[in-house]
Amino acid sequence: MIRDIPVVFSRRVSFDPTPNAFSQLVRSVSETAQLRDLTLSNPTRAALGYRKQELSAALAAARVDRYAAESFGSLEAREVIAKLWHQRGMAVSADQVALTASTSEAYAQLFKLFCDPGDRVLVPRPSYPLLAELAKYEAVELVDYALGYDGSWHIDVESIARLVTDRVKAVVVVSPNNPTGNRLKRSELEALLNLGLPLICDEVFGAYELQEVANAVWAVEARHGLVISLDGLSKFACLPQMKLAWMTFAGDSALVEVAMRRLEFVLDAYLSVGGPVQDSLDALLAAAEDTRLELCDRLKANLRIVDDVCRGSAVTRLDVEGGWYAVLRLPNLMTEDDWVSQLLLQRRVLVQPGWFYDFEMQPVCVVSLLVESEELRSGTEALVQFVQLQCEAC
Ligand SMILES: Cc1ncc(COP(=O)(O)O)c(C=O)c1O
Repeated sequence: MIRDIPVVFSRRVSFDPTPNAFSQLVRSVSETAQLRDLTLSNPTRAALGYRKQELSAALAAARVDRYAAESFGSLEAREVIAKLWHQRGMAVSADQVALTASTSEAYAQLFKLFCDPGDRVLVPRPSYPLLAELAKYEAVELVDYALGYDGSWHIDVESIARLVTDRVKAVVVVSPNNPTGNRLKRSELEALLNLGLPLICDEVFGAYELQEVANAVWAVEARHGLVISLDGLSKFACLPQMKLAWMTFAGDSALVEVAMRRLEFVLDAYLSVGGPVQDSLDALLAAAEDTRLELCDRLKANLRIVDDVCRGSAVTRLDVEGGWYAVLRLPNLMTEDDWVSQLLLQRRVLVQPGWFYDFEMQPVCVVSLLVESEELRSGTEALVQFVQLQCEAC
């Protein structure tokens, strides 16, 4: 018998723990049949070639009998990140870098740095659903700004300016965005900096280019204002299990210094990054490079597969500049929920509905380009055949 425990929980965790209807459906269908799962987001489950011996050797070489309490992480590890920026042609010093255990944690620390409870942060819509959770746990409110689509995705900078009030303390950009894949453009960066707010730019998919975009920029190219770029081993090196991410501060150097001096206190309260992973960072990145390149090739090949399969059908693949996902627009014959549920029930194909990401445009679904190519081809073919059948029945 469950006792009635007189404990009061915070409103931040007062959600309904019952799985939603779609999750329940996924669970029940997967109990009876093998699914073609086009939602994969864990690179360690994607049959990529990891250099296991080199990764193990990198960890084995770490110092295991030492501890130094360093709020920003070890200078050695931060220099590795500075070197990474140099390889991209960007002059960044280790002083501009702070480490955390994950990008998600970096968001939480930055929300603490900039916001009081009830303050607001502007975020793109559609985008990564975890942002809402991360904000909630910091008692921060999110306000959506729209990404427009006219054959390519872009930030509607004018609409953002109208959302700025004195409760708004920062703006988030995801570049390439998850799942729409649009990268931050120079003009967008300038317009966002002109809002006079700190810009948190999530660049975890930055290494995964799906097409060349001439005017795309890294946020650290900012020469004024305050910018914090986020990245980590989780996506950049396909190593989410290692738990190391980095924030890179850029913009006006005086602002950077003031912000980092305050952040130092926040990070000092947690000291969350493990010593061994910092020690091994350089070697881990070297060992993971082939895996990343293999994934880059797979993402591009998979996008071509999706295009081949969708060509001439009622399914339209939306423009994507980078990242791990493709967005498919479906015909307006049934609701998004019906499309994804029927696909699951009738074809055993699992895709994510657009509403996971708050798409205004409907119906759309999201497929992961991380999936092994044969599985992606067969799942996309089943999806397109199903859509064509529905169209013929109308
Ligand atoms: C856009 C975006 N940012 C951040 C993260 C989280 O990264 P981390 O594993 O470093 O917390 C994800 C994970 O999927 C993501 O899609």
